[in-house]
Amino acid sequence: MTEGAPKAEKRVLLIGHRGFPSKAPENTLVSFRLALEVPVDMVELDVHLSKDRHIVVIHDATLERTTNGHGAVRDHTLAALKQLDAGSWFAHSFGEERIPELAEVFDALPEPTLVNVEIKSDAVRDGVDLIERLLGELIVRRHLETRVLVSSFHHGAVGRMKSLFPAIETGVLYAFPRDMGKKPAELARLAGAEAFICSRREASERIVKNAQDNGLKVIVYGLDTPEHINMALDLGTDGVVSNVPDVASEVLKARNLR
Ligand code: G3P
Ligand code: CA
Repeated sequence: MTEGAPKAEKRVLLIGHRGFPSKAPENTLVSFRLALEVPVDMVELDVHLSKDRHIVVIHDATLERTTNGHGAVRDHTLAALKQLDAGSWFAHSFGEERIPELAEVFDALPEPTLVNVEIKSDAVRDGVDLIERLLGELIVRRHLETRVLVSSFHHGAVGRMKSLFPAIETGVLYAFPRDMGKKPAELARLAGAEAFICSRREASERIVKNAQDNGLKVIVYGLDTPEHINMALDLGTDGVVSNVPDVASEVLKARNLR
């Protein structure tokens, strides 16, 4: 390398949390499309199962916060969920947005965009590998094994994904206070995961070092200001999850990380 030339740092993944939720209703197709325009490297999204076992993209186990529906997602069929308005709560101009099926989101995200599918703990049935199996089968059917990272706060679900579908990359989400004091490498080893994901409040030099020394990819979420994004980059994070991916993109560019 030429002496004095700026050292190219490693590339850091830019991840749009629920798409681009500061510009559009979270976890909707328009939110994912806007994230693509930034562009992000990966979109993060949350999944639940409908009553008739379709994988749907929504954060909460219940419908009230982000739709005009009521009750639990899992008590509604896909057809019933599709009737709901998933955008007006954010702004009236998004009134046509619907809860997407995961398959629709996969169709809307061209290569090389990566997808982080978070299985919400409420969607997991202990002792039954239903959502894990349906999700893995969908990923395999679409040949998306190298473009999807499956994560969950429910480490049992992460472990089941890995044993059923070893080719699909997985990540353990650090749950506070449940996982307090536990080492990332140990949590990941127990679930067979390749990535460790934590919030900016939990990220520390010790945590990042333990994870990376053990070959894990570290992803930090809750990074919505340049100050917080820079803090995570100083720690050496491999991925930045942000509700403001446009801001995060500028910070990464300024540091020669994209
Ligand atoms: O990226 C991880 C993050 O999405 C976990 O928290 O509540 O936003 O799904 P939550
Ligand atoms: Ca999530």
